[in-house]
Amino acid sequence: MLSLCFLLVGSASAFRVQQEAFTLPTLGFRLLGTQLKSQYTRSTAVCAQDCMRMSGCTAYNYKRDNGTCQLMAAEDLNQVEPDPEFQIVIKKRGRYFGLKCIENPCMNEGTCSNDPTSVHNIRGYKCHCPCGRCGSNCNKLHFGLVENACIYMFNAGYQKVENPRDCMSFCWHTQGCRSADYINSAGACWLNSVTGDEEPLTMDCDKWYPGVAYLFFNCTCDVDN
Ligand SMILES: *[C@@H]1O[C@H](CO)[C@@H](O)[C@H](O)[C@H]1NC(C)=O
Ligand SMILES: *[C@@H]1O[C@H](CO)[C@@H](O)[C@H](O)[C@H]1NC(C)=O
Repeated sequence: MLSLCFLLVGSASAFRVQQEAFTLPTLGFRLLGTQLKSQYTRSTAVCAQDCMRMSGCTAYNYKRDNGTCQLMAAEDLNQVEPDPEFQIVIKKRGRYFGLKCIENPCMNEGTCSNDPTSVHNIRGYKCHCPCGRCGSNCNKLHFGLVENACIYMFNAGYQKVENPRDCMSFCWHTQGCRSADYINSAGACWLNSVTGDEEPLTMDCDKWYPGVAYLFFNCTCDVDN
């Protein structure tokens, strides 16, 4: 009865059918696993309708360039391969059913959990980032700065750098580094093995090091990421 409706209403409703029954496409990936059928369709909506009609179809791969429509029976929706020419569209099962923690998208030791964000967001996962990392994939360095202050430990490493960001990036990649003293006038980045919470900051360091600043990882991300 349901499929008869689709046939009668025809292609005018194709897009509506797709939007209600499928997730938004995940671009740049191709789902692996059992392929039920491969064909060419003139639009992703027609491919969606074919997936609706075919029992066992859980998702489809679509290549917009040439209309390749691969109907898939994949149960494991994490088994994907990056492919710039394809997109994956998944059949919803009752509630929102998005792609999840694909190939651990969380960078920098972030952990991935399968929390759907919203129906309008193709991301079906959330990254929980370590202190000093923010962004949807923990890709952003997040740090703060206290001018004229330093810890003056200088015991975890040293490097010439261009700016405070490079200094904290160096700290991030150096084992044992927890904070840094950055001397702008010299482009010097001195790493500390403690933070200003553990070791009091010296507040008049600029007497010896003009333009010095204490840099620390900020553990609190902005609400939107
Ligand atoms: C369409 O793209 C697919 C996947 O890249 C390829 O295998 C197929 O040969 C292409 N078909 C045509 C008609 O170009
Ligand atoms: C840490 O970052 C948050 C979000 O950007 C900001 O509101 C907060 O003031 C920062 N904390 C410090 C100590 O800089």
